[in-house]
Amino acid sequence: MTTINDPLIAGALHLPNRLVMAPLTRMRSKQPGNIPHELNATYYAQRASAGLIISEATQVCQQGQGYPGTPGIHSEEQIAGWRLVTDAVHSAGGRIVLQLWHVGRISHSSHQPNDELPVAPSAIAAKNSGTMTADWKPTPILTPRALETDEIPGIVAAFAAGAANAKEAGFDGVEVHGANGYLLDQFLQDGSNHRSDQYGGSIENRARLLLEVVDAVIGVWGADRVGVRLSPYGTFNDMSDSDPVALFTYVLGQLSDRSIAFVDLIEPRSSGAGGSDKVLEDKPDTAKLFRQSFRGVLVSAGGYQPDSAKEAVAEGIADAVAFGRLFIANPDLLRRISENAPLNRYDRATFYGGGEKGYTDYPSL
Ligand code: PHB
Repeated sequence: MTTINDPLIAGALHLPNRLVMAPLTRMRSKQPGNIPHELNATYYAQRASAGLIISEATQVCQQGQGYPGTPGIHSEEQIAGWRLVTDAVHSAGGRIVLQLWHVGRISHSSHQPNDELPVAPSAIAAKNSGTMTADWKPTPILTPRALETDEIPGIVAAFAAGAANAKEAGFDGVEVHGANGYLLDQFLQDGSNHRSDQYGGSIENRARLLLEVVDAVIGVWGADRVGVRLSPYGTFNDMSDSDPVALFTYVLGQLSDRSIAFVDLIEPRSSGAGGSDKVLEDKPDTAKLFRQSFRGVLVSAGGYQPDSAKEAVAEGIADAVAFGRLFIANPDLLRRISENAPLNRYDRATFYGGGEKGYTDYPSL
């Protein structure tokens, strides 16, 4: 029987165990410039016993930023800042991949170059969704501007540049953020994509941008150091699709053909992303539903507890399980789960922004 403590080979990534630290927005980069710094290095190094750390979502260009304080990977200072993080994680014996991010419509003009409108596949605002302005004021989501077809190569190039910068910063690989209602997911799903060019309409067309990005990133790293995050049936950021099974079966088939290192599927039962503790029990179990559609390493995330994670790995529903909130509060989560030790409780008030409190001050056993 496979356990959380068994090693796992994911492409060129050799994980000593099957516990993954999920990508977690914490909004604590150094300002101005959205630059990772020593505090972030300490936080990640504390969690280096994870089989793999997936970094917080990191904008590949200024247009891709949607929240204050999230780090970027498009300036020399950011690359140097991330180098502090990767060196600290490696010194502590860990492995870390960078999550490449463009938020698309989930932004605000105050984050955009020249105060422009956020961009998206179509000029459709995300309802019941919000973000914060550059000066940390809560704001509803604006109606974005639809990207022109001739702007799409620039988006692909931004992801490729982010991937190259991640290499320079010393990461072990990258994860393409195709989930949670951000730009690539906005293209995938037909609730947000009403385009009539080759990037809209059919499933093949809606998946085109994601796959072009994945291919460009593979060109930088090789497929065996590239992962992709997807969230079928997720409703966070006002997402919907008329036929998720057909869409994600196609996408996972395409990713299988490319032999990428892993796919990271978010369970829709935790669809509030970081924003909510509500567990929606009536949602489909996507790891089970799509297990057969992806021929490769499957990481499952969303709403797991230690027992359900052990079960998912034992039953082969997933090859590894990712934890978010529990990893925030328990730097030594692997040891605690392995020894059935009690877990620290997380403090939601310190998830986003601030300093050491609720970030680097959670105790290990
Ligand atoms: C967030 O900042 O709230 C956030 C970022 C990335 C996600 C989900 C939520 O994938």
